[in-house]
Amino acid sequence: MIKAVRGTRDLLPPDTALWNFVEDKVRDVFRAYNFQEIRTPIFEATELFARGVGEETDIVSKEMYTWEDRSRAASEKAQSLTLRPEATAGIVRAYIEHKLWDRGLNKLYCIGPMFRRERPQKGRYRQFYQIDAEIIGPASAGSDSPARDAELLEMLATLLDRLGITGWNLELNSVGCPNDRARFNEALRQALEPVKDKMCADCQRRAVTNPLRVFDCKVPEDQPIIATLPRISQFLDEGCRTHFEAVQSILTKVGVRFTLNDRLVRGLDYYTRTAFEFTHGALGAQNAILGGGRYDGLSEALGGPPAPGIGFAIGEDRLVMSLQDTADSVVSKPAVYIAPMAGMNAEAALLAHQLRRRDLVVELGDDTFRLKKSFEAATRVGAKYILIVGENEVQANAFALKNLATGEQVQVARGELAAKIQGS
Ligand code: HAM
Repeated sequence: MIKAVRGTRDLLPPDTALWNFVEDKVRDVFRAYNFQEIRTPIFEATELFARGVGEETDIVSKEMYTWEDRSRAASEKAQSLTLRPEATAGIVRAYIEHKLWDRGLNKLYCIGPMFRRERPQKGRYRQFYQIDAEIIGPASAGSDSPARDAELLEMLATLLDRLGITGWNLELNSVGCPNDRARFNEALRQALEPVKDKMCADCQRRAVTNPLRVFDCKVPEDQPIIATLPRISQFLDEGCRTHFEAVQSILTKVGVRFTLNDRLVRGLDYYTRTAFEFTHGALGAQNAILGGGRYDGLSEALGGPPAPGIGFAIGEDRLVMSLQDTADSVVSKPAVYIAPMAGMNAEAALLAHQLRRRDLVVELGDDTFRLKKSFEAATRVGAKYILIVGENEVQANAFALKNLATGEQVQVARGELAAKIQGS
């Protein structure tokens, strides 16, 4: 038997109803904040992620699905391609490629699968789904304003509330700008010098190449050392500090709760200034339901014009996990099961056609079923009513409609069926 690949999974009904419920709600909220959808390819040139996300990150150094794509013609070059591990780099690439700065401030969102070769466990998959949103544009359009950071975070709070998710915690930090980071990295390098030999192999390498990434370390033995390292908050320049204070004061004004966490540096290299994660207690070890932040230099790193931006990605798998309790209420069940008696398939099809045109959810039976089997089928699909279509009913143009929960049965004229079923 061939099974789904490790770390991938099928999403089956009724769970898919929950996924659709989430995506519908998300699109409604995005609409209210004037975000528009963008769809980018699920694979890109490997170079995009190496330059965008950063060579030293776990994502790029260990987790990408990369292959050498052969040329099909002399005119075509072989090239290294990668399944996208995240959406931001692709969206910024599209921003540059299509000169989206002509539109001023872009508020874009994208929902789709991402791929990372991580160790699979609950809440962590190799194909997972993100709901990603980005605000990007020239600084003249206000893209670097702290008002945008606060707007995005307030939108997230609204979204989680709408979905009925409570008990989340917003962890907020500023990772500063490249100047601050250079000084911070230097301080880290010095602090790590005497202790790095006691750390894991990854950290020994990071201590030299990109000390900031030491904060991504998950090795328990290294944590006491990491706890003693300098914090980015001590290195923020005046501009970054003021920006961060402005974000916080708007959040306080609009009533979005947050916790400051100056150890939060995020696992991607493009971040500048505001960085954040929303965690949720019910999720266990993989408790980050979403993460994001500012990336004011990313466009330039990818060869584009200056274009400050900020965004986030929600892990949809984890969001859905935290909603399992509401699963029952979002699964749509048929309003009516039509049970044709012998020879009545065509008449039943006509009725189903008429009721579906009135937007009713109809499950259509088969005239080879005995009545008992039709009742069983109607109950299994969770239909509210069963509608019996026999020769007499067709002649009278009125049908027996039985409520499967109460057992109540009434005769209803064809023209009144839809209203009767809908009205209940
Ligand atoms: P990230 O923190 O790498 O950020 O991922 C965002 C979210 O995706 C995580 O908080 C988590 O919920 C989910 N996630 C990540 N890896 C997995 C996995 N293996 N299985 C299940 N869920 C996972 C980014 O990807 C940035 N691009 C976010 C961003 C957008 N920053 C600015 N704009």
